[in-house]
Amino acid sequence: MAFGLKKDITWDKSRLPRHVAIIMDGNGRWAHRRALPRIAGHRAGAEALRKICRYAGRIGIEYITAYAFSTENWKRADDEVSGLMALLLSYLQNAEKELGGDEARIRVIGDRSRFADELQREMARVERVTADNKKLNVTLALGYGGRREIIDAIKKIAADAASGRISIDDIDEGTLDSCLYTNFMPDPDLVIRTSGEMRLSNFLLWQNAYSELYFCDTLWPDFNEKAFDLALRAYENRNRRFGGR
Ligand code: IPE
Ligand code: IPE
Ligand code: MG
Repeated sequence: MAFGLKKDITWDKSRLPRHVAIIMDGNGRWAHRRALPRIAGHRAGAEALRKICRYAGRIGIEYITAYAFSTENWKRADDEVSGLMALLLSYLQNAEKELGGDEARIRVIGDRSRFADELQREMARVERVTADNKKLNVTLALGYGGRREIIDAIKKIAADAASGRISIDDIDEGTLDSCLYTNFMPDPDLVIRTSGEMRLSNFLLWQNAYSELYFCDTLWPDFNEKAFDLALRAYENRNRRFGGR
């Protein structure tokens, strides 16, 4: 092996999470510590996501869902929001090359209606051009809020019930699952949140009912393959019981 080229750990596939959801937090603090503007932290955070997606695909993870912008993040200062939108646009323009080569299928979940037309077009384009990719599913949560998602699903179900398309007695977990933005993916096995905060901040509230939670102090822009390995190791040692024995 060439000097400096570290080999990836070979993971026991049966102990590897199929779906890792990530709350990428700490970009602002990362920038602040370096006396840089917050957007520099977001730029470094975008780079960290590229790295993690490539790595996740290599080791055999099937789904990565990354919380990139919440419904609540629209409340941030105008210059931060506009900086984030500019970054997002260039990220999406290069997403199929950056987020896992030609092997990742990229999708967006969330309320797109508040994003500029140009961004909405770019989201649709990335989804279209990566639709046949099979190795890794990368989903970006943008303008995403778990409560909003559940309310939207309830509205759909209520409309179906009112029009007689479904009967109230037939409503079950599967009905709600199928109305969520995430209806194409399994629930997350593992949720990682960086930067020391220990909360979900409205991320996949329904879907995370039985997910394993992993919190670390690393700020998102510093999160790398080694930090990801630590999270996967912790997951390997969890005993998931789902309420059973
Ligand atoms: C996470 O980093 C990225 C977004 C929410 C867009 P933050 O911007 O929340 O970073 P901190 O929490 O202020 O350090
Ligand atoms: C959660 O981070 C949202 C994203 C990572 C996109 P925030 O920084 O917005 O969450 P709070 O405000 O600390 O809960
Ligand atoms: Mg934060």
